[in-house]
Amino acid sequence: MRMPTEVTARMEAGITQPSYMQHLLESKVSTELSDMECAYIVGMIGLAGVPTMSSAVLTYLLTLSPQWQTRLQAEVDMACDDRTPELSDSFQVPILRAIIMELLRWRPITLSSIPHESTEDSIYDGHLFQKARISTQINGQSHVTRPCNPGRLLNPLYPSYKGPLGVYLSTRNFTTFGYGRQVRMGMDLVENELFVAIWGEGDGLGC
Ligand code: HEM
Repeated sequence: MRMPTEVTARMEAGITQPSYMQHLLESKVSTELSDMECAYIVGMIGLAGVPTMSSAVLTYLLTLSPQWQTRLQAEVDMACDDRTPELSDSFQVPILRAIIMELLRWRPITLSSIPHESTEDSIYDGHLFQKARISTQINGQSHVTRPCNPGRLLNPLYPSYKGPLGVYLSTRNFTTFGYGRQVRMGMDLVENELFVAIWGEGDGLGC
């Protein structure tokens, strides 16, 4: 609860920076949200966004083999030359995209998604979901025992290859984000954040 109180104080003193919390507080009259609800909304983003992304980046940092690091470095060097990479460059770096996809498959962050509880009896696709039943989704794309090999997405000899790479090398619709109406919003955000984090790290290595 400290955040809404502090931001309100800063808004009253006229020294606030534009922020999500400020936006929520300013919209309180029309949204009828309480300070507590504003705190939960902003807190949820941190709670859901920080451990997930840091887990993916840590998997990359701790496990990517030297061979793939070298290939990634060469690709990054070729694509960005002396300038800072931009998101629009992302389709020129299929190795980076394949590495992101393979890391999410190999070490899925939400292997069993987030459990949901039915608030009332409901029938979906012929199945009864009783009130208070807790259900979750199993991440079928993840075969954690299969070794990490981004090549399976880049080489047409693998059955998992799907071209053209510019179109299909994307984490959108990955089951790690859930299915159907329970799919997580903002898959693009995750892809872009990982793109910037990993490319940024490769950039730091000497691009
Ligand atoms: C690799 C990274 C991530 C993965 C694999 C992931 C996965 C998921 C999954 C499976 C759900 C549950 C969908 C459902 O069953 O309703 C979810 C919900 C959510 N995620 Fe993510 N997420 C990631 C990153 C992020 C980031 C970076 C943010 C925010 C900046 C974020 C914010 C949220 C929020 C707000 C929810 C909704 C929680 C709710 O419905 O109460 N996630 N995510």
